[in-house]
Amino acid sequence: MKSFYITTAIDYVNGSPHLGHAYEKVLTDVIARFRRQMGDQVHFLTGADEHGQKVQASAKKLGVDAQKYVDETSAVFRALYDRLGVSYDDFIRTTEPRHKQVVRAILQQLFDKGEIYQAEYKGFYSTRQEQFLQEKDRNPDGTWPEIFGEVTEIVEANYFFKLRQYQDWLIGFLTENENFIFPRFRQKQVLEFLKEPLNDLCISRPKERLEWGIPLPFDENYVTYVWFDALLNYYSAVAEKGLWPADWNVIGKDILVPPHAVYWPIMLKACGLPPPKGLLVHGWWLQSGAKMSKSKGDAVNPLELVDEFGVDAFRYFLIREMNVGQDSEFTREQFLVRYNSELANNLGNLVNRTLNMTTRFAGGVLPAAEAAEEPEKELRALWEKTRDECIPLAEGFQFHTALERTMAFVTATNAYIEKRAPWKLGKSAEPREQALLRTSLATMAEALRLAVALIQHVTPSTTEKINGVLGYAPGTDWREELVWGAKLDGAKVAGALVLFPRPAPAGKPPATS
Ligand code: ME8
Ligand code: MG
Repeated sequence: MKSFYITTAIDYVNGSPHLGHAYEKVLTDVIARFRRQMGDQVHFLTGADEHGQKVQASAKKLGVDAQKYVDETSAVFRALYDRLGVSYDDFIRTTEPRHKQVVRAILQQLFDKGEIYQAEYKGFYSTRQEQFLQEKDRNPDGTWPEIFGEVTEIVEANYFFKLRQYQDWLIGFLTENENFIFPRFRQKQVLEFLKEPLNDLCISRPKERLEWGIPLPFDENYVTYVWFDALLNYYSAVAEKGLWPADWNVIGKDILVPPHAVYWPIMLKACGLPPPKGLLVHGWWLQSGAKMSKSKGDAVNPLELVDEFGVDAFRYFLIREMNVGQDSEFTREQFLVRYNSELANNLGNLVNRTLNMTTRFAGGVLPAAEAAEEPEKELRALWEKTRDECIPLAEGFQFHTALERTMAFVTATNAYIEKRAPWKLGKSAEPREQALLRTSLATMAEALRLAVALIQHVTPSTTEKINGVLGYAPGTDWREELVWGAKLDGAKVAGALVLFPRPAPAGKPPATS
């Protein structure tokens, strides 16, 4: 079995998770589930980034102890991911001893090797991004871009990690490994950044200013800079398991340069560890063209959409709407368009018709297909084409296109039903018409079974429910499940299943029947 280790970014747990956090965890989950289906031995890590100025400030504002604060807030993030069906194998919190031990050991190792030195720091800092800024980060008019929030000037003695001496190594590494960053165009952005000389990285904060962090092992008057601490989670969580390097670190585009594309590979290099095999960089969910964020009051609460439309409709929308790597505007209107046209009226309709007609015309027991004619042969050929396209699309993270193709197959199945019109065939006692009726019932059910098997990494509970009402228990070999066959012959189906109730107009709860 091939092992596959994948991680998400770990969220700052100051405030409530929004749709952007949910997207990243669902995207990573879709990849993890897909790789498991393909037979890999998957290890999926997510977690919480619990140190730093931003978290300390939020706790102070509420007048609560920082540890108590992160215990509560990180539980909220974790509960959301559980609710969303995120199948993580491990959830790391940076305040856990297992993580702190590794960070301190690495700091000591780098200090002993002479990779860390003390000097005066003078510069600007963005607490919102927990990031040091440079003059070139300013807007042309001298102000700081909005994404940095409040920017403060710092002058103090600190410890520095010798980043600069690895600049040429990093440029060489990126040049030789063109696929290190997905999508590829982002690699250029990193190389562009590396055209300017790198500054060494300030990795400490004096305790008088920031207490909430991991004390430096070689000077307890300081705590570790939050990014130096946080990045190491991907390694600390598996150090004992021998799973490093990760196959993918999945992150948003705002934390690629410099943390993940510059600090991270260099930190690993300095420790004598290999870089991750790849960085998978997704875009932003936008509202009115701007990044959805915790600091803005109107960020979309994923739980509200889940309560209203169900977990799988939410997962489906995120994965169907976003082309991995690009940005997407979130609107409720667009959510409703996809919900209605793709889930309720297309997939939901196929489920209803299959159950309803099997109940009416075959006593609820799926008949065997008889000789296939043109319409059946065409649908089956379309299935084979769809499946053979969707697997490589998923391997290349083009899940939105794979879902589009699968839904086109569902549309074609509904069109097949219109063509065969089982409700007409059911009125006839002619043997040929009766044979066609049996064939059409078997064909629509098989097409439905296959379609939902193909998207089960996106809509796991819907697929399970549909298998349930089809009286079907899938086998463990996923690719075998995608073969058109006679798996449903004689299956006893349920009478009805309400999967995607029609939402009521804005403001009212959805109808439940
Ligand atoms: O950056 N759309 O935490 P974070 C899509 N703790 N993704 C979004 C988003 C949006 N509108 N807003 C945020 C941090 N994200 C660090 C990470 S990793 C060692 C440390 C994504 O809570 C963001 O890009 O600010 C990041 O990948 C993740 O959510 C956590 O963001
Ligand atoms: Mg952020």
